[in-house]
Amino acid sequence: MKIAVVGTGYVGLVTGTCFAEVGIEVTCIDIDQKKIDNLHKGILPIYEPGLEEMVSRNVSAGRLSFSTNLAEAIKECDVAFIAVGTPPGEDGSADLKYVLAVARGIGESMNNYCVVVTKSTVPVGTAAKVRKELEDALAKRGANIEFDVASNPEFLKEGAAIDDFLKPDRIVVGISSERAEEVMSRLYKPFLLNGHPIIFMDIPSAEMTKYAANSMLATKISFMNDIANLCEIMGADVNMVRKGIGSDARIGTKFIYPGIGYGGSCFPKDVKALIKTASENGYEMQVLKAVESVNDAQKEVLFDKVSKHFGGELSGKKFAVWGLSFKPKTDDMREAPSLVIIEKLLAEGGTVSAYDPVAMEEAKHSLGDRITYAKDPFEALVDADALLVVTEWPEFRSPSFEVVGKLLKDKVIFDGRNIYDPAELRELGFAYHCIGVKT
Ligand code: UGA
Repeated sequence: MKIAVVGTGYVGLVTGTCFAEVGIEVTCIDIDQKKIDNLHKGILPIYEPGLEEMVSRNVSAGRLSFSTNLAEAIKECDVAFIAVGTPPGEDGSADLKYVLAVARGIGESMNNYCVVVTKSTVPVGTAAKVRKELEDALAKRGANIEFDVASNPEFLKEGAAIDDFLKPDRIVVGISSERAEEVMSRLYKPFLLNGHPIIFMDIPSAEMTKYAANSMLATKISFMNDIANLCEIMGADVNMVRKGIGSDARIGTKFIYPGIGYGGSCFPKDVKALIKTASENGYEMQVLKAVESVNDAQKEVLFDKVSKHFGGELSGKKFAVWGLSFKPKTDDMREAPSLVIIEKLLAEGGTVSAYDPVAMEEAKHSLGDRITYAKDPFEALVDADALLVVTEWPEFRSPSFEVVGKLLKDKVIFDGRNIYDPAELRELGFAYHCIGVKT
């Protein structure tokens, strides 16, 4: 089989590389010449554990190649994935101009039957628009070539992308013909060896599944953040409550960790887009609106704790921040809670010394030289009035608290991810503030 993957962002690059890994011939396409040049040199546009090695292995084996030439890659390909960006427009709806431009490009160059698959997260109804672009482009050429469109949403998590792709819980494919079902079954066969299913359905349902999944996960998080805030007020401990409810199989133990709000390129965008799709069609997503506003408020919770502790006097104080990316194992800074917290600290006249294992270069795009970047976690602590733990990177989980206490001016820790043991820190003489946990 031969496939083309258009768009070398997170989803495109992981998809292309993982298909190559199981022996399929893959061309990854991007219009950004610099990105493609870098990929030829083995420089990836994103940080994802294990991906660099996998790219290089498959390039060497001749199964994976990169190009800006869409027309060339589309010729004789069995499946073309569209994995380009769908940035949120001003009003929260997903902007489809890149997706539709790629569809047009495919229609202009295809010369045999091909399944054109939307892999980017796209609103319900997009596959129909993709089909129309393809039909128009083919009609313009006077070409009579059969094709199918399919919707194959991606559920991988940043930081665990390769594992999620190679061993998926499920694969969802929206199709409208038996021929497309047969091609997609053949393509995904190597990924189903662990017994997890490929679920075929109609195209709108597949498109909706992606939004429903992310929205449900975002709802779990906002719900738990609400519960955590209430636990603090009522003298309950959210860690106990989490264990108590998580052991009910209907609720489950995953994605019920409170914190400082969800970030990233997916949950905030998809929740917004689904609210928008609904309202455009005369329906109000009441639960999701609340999910969004709880999340916005939660990104400020850690700052509020800092402000309260210092009696609103933050001017001239120095804060050490551990972790900048929206979650561990990625350099992705999109919608990261760290940005909200740091901007608020700076606005109040505080200074910030931050450390993140991989995201500091990315962070500079928005924070520039308004903060200082430490070369290791301990350097960030020197003479700081408090430590804020913002991203739960494994290396922050068990620091020498003796050293932390010595380097800080004052033994104060604000933990936005509940990674420390309150009793241990109390014994060591720290003032410890976290999210919904008894301290
Ligand atoms: C999310 C979904 O988990 C993937 O299934 C989906 O494919 C992806 O979006 C996407 O649409 O592309 P991702 O954004 O990489 O993946 O990150 P998650 O691991 O889901 O975390 C999202 C946010 O939720 C992070 O800010 C994390 O800190 C927060 N979170 C997660 C919590 O606050 N509590 C939890 O219990 C879990």
